Amino acid sequence: MPDEPVSVLERSATRVHGYRFALRVAERGRVLSVGDGVVWIEGLPSAAMEELLRTEDGSTALVFHLDRERIGAILLEQASGLRAGAAATLTGERLALGVGDALLGRMVDPLGAPLDGALPPVCAAQRRLDGPSPPIVAREFVKQPLITGSKVADTMIPIGRGQRQLLIGDNGTGKTTFALDVVLAQKGRGVSCVYVLIGQKRSTIASVTDTLRRLGALEYTTLVVAEATASPGLKYLAPYAGCAIAEAWMEAGRHALVVYDDLSTHARIYRELSLLLRRPPGREAYPGDVFYLHARLLERSTCLSAAQGGGSMTALPIVETEQGEIAAYIPTNLISITDGQIYFDRALFASGILPAIDVRRSVSRIGGKAQPEAIKHEAARMKLEYLQFLELETFSRFGSRLEAGLRARLARGRLLRNLLKQEPLSPLAPESQLAWMTAFNDGSLDGLEAEKLTAALRALTQGAARGAPELDAPREAWSSAVAGWLGTGPARGEA
Ligand SMILES: Nc1ncnc2c1ncn2[C@@H]1O[C@H](COP(=O)(O)OP(=O)(O)O)[C@@H](O)[C@H]1O
Ligand SMILES: [Mg+2]
Repeated sequence: MPDEPVSVLERSATRVHGYRFALRVAERGRVLSVGDGVVWIEGLPSAAMEELLRTEDGSTALVFHLDRERIGAILLEQASGLRAGAAATLTGERLALGVGDALLGRMVDPLGAPLDGALPPVCAAQRRLDGPSPPIVAREFVKQPLITGSKVADTMIPIGRGQRQLLIGDNGTGKTTFALDVVLAQKGRGVSCVYVLIGQKRSTIASVTDTLRRLGALEYTTLVVAEATASPGLKYLAPYAGCAIAEAWMEAGRHALVVYDDLSTHARIYRELSLLLRRPPGREAYPGDVFYLHARLLERSTCLSAAQGGGSMTALPIVETEQGEIAAYIPTNLISITDGQIYFDRALFASGILPAIDVRRSVSRIGGKAQPEAIKHEAARMKLEYLQFLELETFSRFGSRLEAGLRARLARGRLLRNLLKQEPLSPLAPESQLAWMTAFNDGSLDGLEAEKLTAALRALTQGAARGAPELDAPREAWSSAVAGWLGTGPARGEA
């Protein structure tokens, strides 16, 4: 029933009665100087860090540095008319962007504007770029696997949903390729992906987009892009935008995967902005809070408890090293923030061992808890054997005469190294992983020459795809199924 006119009047009267006359201070800022993506402004004493401000010509900037007489801000959208003397006002707002399923299949900039030539996505919700990370009580231990489709990773460096796993290595060692493969492996697994490209060349952006589209992975993926020529402000914001998008899915009880490609570039941009804003430089000229830059980003990736919907956000930050130097400032920071790292080695790449993952220098601190039991069981034997082989190989280079037992172990190790090679864009399902591991551990692949080995692997993948035992079936069931697929025994396990 509509309100009685009288009561409406009464309520308005109280409101009018309760009105307090007071002085309201409106600050009017003035642009002092503009340049290199940074703007200096005076006359805005109440500005807060990371608050959005606008200038009269329609440019927007983010408050980034507070001084007594002036503030420094990084430009996000620069209108052509921006120059010294322009009026500037604080908006009191934090930066936010549209999130939700409307972003799937789209390429957007860190403010949510479309970069794919289509209409702006119509998002039901907005989300802050710099939101807080979930409190400890809302979190859960990682316990579900994130299938990467990679032979090396899924067997020996397993990742769980909600984990933060660093991809580290020199330029051109296969990090982007690996991350893309992980996105491809999510097809049909209910994980929505965000791929953040920070300051990348246009050719890289085109090839990533093209690969995702061609293989039907774009439909469950959002690309957040700030290309090399974008303003430093946008490049700085890109990972936070990607994080906010993935976070919204996690909060809705879903599973998300976010790739940050890459955070070394991000750190460099932050250093550039900080130097322009005259913050005191520290180690390697990075400002003192560069650790916080990435810690607050990666802390937002987690696995939520059932009470919070049970969603997860897995993060694959990428960091580029120089000459394999993992002890440099940014790499060590990231290693300490993440739950493990996958190390891509230039020497392995050069000798054609692809993917060039160095198992000895890679680790997953929490993923083992999420690894399927059967795979974990097979992998334990395999990894030990492999690590022993790598050590043995180094020593056996010095002496030529080896006893038969050692020769056999070297042969097994070389076989495994060949088995672990994998072409890009060929993710393996867990059943196929278990198939080849069982075959290897049973010794069924020993002594096969290259051609026969390829044929055997194909037989295993096809067999597993046609109908494999359950992953948690008894080992004997797998053993006999594998023997059947290889034609080396009765095909009992085949469904
Ligand atoms: N597993 C692989 N097998 C064959 N080629 C690979 C593999 N991984 C990467 N490459 C090739 O190596 C090159 C560099 O890879 P990329 O992922 O761009 O390296 P990064 O991101 O570390 O700079 C690319 O041409 C890519 O096709
Ligand atoms: Mg790359």
